[in-house]
Parts: sequence; structure tokens; C-alpha cells
Amino acid sequence: MARLSVDLCGLRMKNPTMLASGVLDETGKSMVAVAKAGAGAIVTKSVGREPRPGHGNPCVVELECGLLNAMGLPNPGIEAFAQEIREAKKAGVPIIGSVFGGSEDEMAGLTMAMQRAGADAVELNLSCPHARGYGTELGSTPEAVESVCRRAKQDLKVPLFAKLTPNTPSISALAVAAAHGGADGVVAINTLKGMAISTEARMPILANKVGGLSGPAIKPVGLRCVYEIYDSVEIPIIGVGGICSGRDALEYVMAGASAVQIGTAVWTEGPGVFSKVCREMLAFMEENGFKTVGELVGVAHAGGR
Ligand code: DHB
Repeated sequence: MARLSVDLCGLRMKNPTMLASGVLDETGKSMVAVAKAGAGAIVTKSVGREPRPGHGNPCVVELECGLLNAMGLPNPGIEAFAQEIREAKKAGVPIIGSVFGGSEDEMAGLTMAMQRAGADAVELNLSCPHARGYGTELGSTPEAVESVCRRAKQDLKVPLFAKLTPNTPSISALAVAAAHGGADGVVAINTLKGMAISTEARMPILANKVGGLSGPAIKPVGLRCVYEIYDSVEIPIIGVGGICSGRDALEYVMAGASAVQIGTAVWTEGPGVFSKVCREMLAFMEENGFKTVGELVGVAHAGGR
């Protein structure tokens, strides 16, 4: 009998799927609903120190191949969000607090605030492609990634994950830096920087002009990134980008991911996507004689790790 449960840096998950940051994760109640629908863990919307209204509208464009968004990191600020974490904890699955900041100090403060609020782990958003001052400033060079991870990890008891940008010449160099800085795992990938243009209006559709591309279009990029990172670090990788089916999730696991996140497919299909993905993963494992997810991690690398 195959089983989907995984232990990720001490987080006990009933299955390897997580809600990715940014979809249905602004309130405790919506996070509980997604957990009830089958997610093994939940990542919150990224939260900063002060409340932020985010960018103007339009801030999302639906494309045939995925979604392009530039929300602008809207959030109520960490003080108000602590209540949503407490509410989300009622779901009984690990809650991972995502934070963004403009400096190492700010990131470290937010990380500790997330821990105090009850988050079971913290994800550093080092990779928003379009929030000036709060995006990739701390995440685009190995030096910056190592330093911010080290500072955030200093007094932290819960696991620390670094969410990395694919908009870089070498994501594995960023992953190595995160590991050196003390991150317990890396999340790959955040969105790709993109643009959509209205031919009628003859201008970019997003109010912010550029945004982050997610969904099926970016799956091959995500897989390539996870595959490269797996060859470079020993810490676990959480794969994300375009996962809609059990096969998609398994591709990420075979590339080297120990767990996966789903975001855009929750937007397009609803939270039912979690139980569908899990059902399909389990069926594959039973048919092919795999008992645990761990047996499948990295098998696409000839000879394994
Ligand atoms: C936003 C943040 C992200 O990290 C991302 O990939 C896309 C959008 C945002 O809030 O604008």
C-alpha cells in the first residue's frame, strides 16, 4: 500500500502538496478551506511590516498559457496578519508564513514575528519580479541570498525556506547560497517576469506594465530549475510552477522536489485540485510499485543523488 505522507524538515504533511503563496491565502478562513480540500500544508500570502494597498488595477491578466499578475504585495501588515495565522492554525496542517522585506533587518524581524504568531515554518519571498524595493533586491545575487538567510535564521527555531527567482543566470548558485546561509530548504520557482499588451489600447494591460507569469507556461522552466538545484544542494527542494495534475507533481518529484506547491491551478480549477493531484500521484505509485514519495525524489537523475 503506497502512502503520500512526507516529513519536510520536521513538518509532518499528510501529502506532499502545499498551497503556494498568493492564492486564497489572505485570510485564516480561506486557508482553512484549502486545507480541508486536501492541501498537505499552506503558505500564506507574502506579508510585510506595514499595510500595503498593492498596485492599481488591472493587476491580473488571464492568458491561454497561465496567469500574469502584478498585485504589488498587498497585505494588512504583520501585526494584523498574526490573527489570520492563528485562525489558519485551526486547519491542523503546517502553516508556512511568507514574508517580504526591503532590508535584512526587516526580513529578520518579520521572520521572528511569523514564528511568534504560530507559523510552523517561514518562507522568505526573495523573488517577486515587480515590487520595487521589495522584490528581487535581496534575492538576485548569491551574496545577498546567503546574507539574508543567515540573518533570518539567527534566532529562528522553525524551518526557513528561501523562495528563489528563475529570472537569473544561475538559480543553483542562489540555492547553494541559501544553503550556506542556513536555509532548511529552497522553493523553486517564483514567477517569470512578463508582459501582456492590449492591441486595442496599444498599451500594456497591467497597470504596473510588467508582472509575474505563472501556470502551465512555466512548468518546463520550473522543472529545469529544480533539476539543476538538486545537483547542487543537499537541502530539500519544494517545486512549484504550473502543477495541475498528479503527473505534473511527479515530474517535479522526479526532478528532485521533496514537496510541491500549487497556486495558479487553484485559481483555474478551485481547491479540489489538491485531492485530484493526490489521487493521481497515489495511483501512479501503486501501479509502479513505489511505497513512499521519498523513493521517487530525484529519480530522473541517472544514478540518483
Ligand atoms: C506578487 C508577488 C510575487 O512573489 C509574485 O511572484 C507575483 C506577484 C505580488 O504580490 O504582486
